[in-house]
Amino acid sequence: MKILGIETSCDDTGIAIYDYKKGLLINEIYNQNILNDKNGGIIPELASRQHMESITFLLHKILKRKHFMKDIDLIAYTAGPGLVSSLLVGATFACSLGFALNIPVVPVNHMEAHLLSPFIECKSIEFPFIALLVSGKHTQIIGVHELGCYELLGNCLDDAVGESFDKIAKLLDLKSPGGSELSKLALIGNKNYFHFPRPMIHHSNLNFSFSGLKTCVTNMIKKCDKSLQTKANIARAFEDAVIDTLLIKTKQALKEKKWNRLVIAGGVSSNYPLRKKSEKMMKKDFNGKVFYARLNFCTDNAAMIAYLGCLRYKEASKCLLDIVVKPKWSIIELDRINR
Ligand code: KG4
Ligand code: ZN
Repeated sequence: MKILGIETSCDDTGIAIYDYKKGLLINEIYNQNILNDKNGGIIPELASRQHMESITFLLHKILKRKHFMKDIDLIAYTAGPGLVSSLLVGATFACSLGFALNIPVVPVNHMEAHLLSPFIECKSIEFPFIALLVSGKHTQIIGVHELGCYELLGNCLDDAVGESFDKIAKLLDLKSPGGSELSKLALIGNKNYFHFPRPMIHHSNLNFSFSGLKTCVTNMIKKCDKSLQTKANIARAFEDAVIDTLLIKTKQALKEKKWNRLVIAGGVSSNYPLRKKSEKMMKKDFNGKVFYARLNFCTDNAAMIAYLGCLRYKEASKCLLDIVVKPKWSIIELDRINR
């Protein structure tokens, strides 16, 4: 079975083909970083217009590489959560293609796709495990009991971790994608120069709040000189504060559940110090292991959508008038995956 995956939840357009037996065959992405920098951020109307151009461009690109539409058995697309105008482009495109080819179509949840992205290449992860889902709009700790069975243990009360990285990056005059640029700058930062708070670590719950930290860093940026070294020192202290906070809460969740497997997923999981520090923590404190996807499966991509489509193929429908778009769609509303 070959699955065509389509991703258009935010500003990245992705198309991928996943083969049930051979694994991932193709994974194409078109990002909108230049457009975002020109406009000072993502503008939903412009993002959706760009998806409309990029999606056909990417489809033609893969057709040129001798991947034929007649060989596709199923189409999976991101139905949510995300920006409604962006989601609509992918959903309409997927359903129209399904209609034309007379093949089933399955709408999938973007955050579940992130959560399961490490499985694309590593099938040996066992259940249960704790998942730290960290992306542009989400900061969640999830108890994963089995495929499709998720327990929300902690959530963000305000700005998500990726969003906070992006906002601070912008104040430091960095380009998109903000998070990875900030992390690069932090490499030359002095870790002892600034110290920012680790929000909510003394609360007994597993929730996060990064807006106070963001304000504190914003005020510091305004006060300080604009030299590259000062910016790097701020970037380093901000990154350290975020990672410490994420890992303190994650550790608490692992202890409460008495589990020793951790999955980190979502765009922020490509952060190198987060990966290294979590590896150290899992080994030292839990004699356990952390799993994450390779870098291009961490940020938005269609490989994870095609892979999840493969897992959820039984939910596919040929009822082609069902264009499903759910801008708000929590992972805990999902059904168990029956395979
Ligand atoms: O999962 P994703 O691609 O999109 C959403 O579903 O939101 O995540 C994007 C987020 C952005 O906020 C970006 O700044 C952040 O992931 N990000 C990073 C890094 N790479 C991407 N944050 C910190 N360090 C990175 N290396
Ligand atoms: Zn995402």
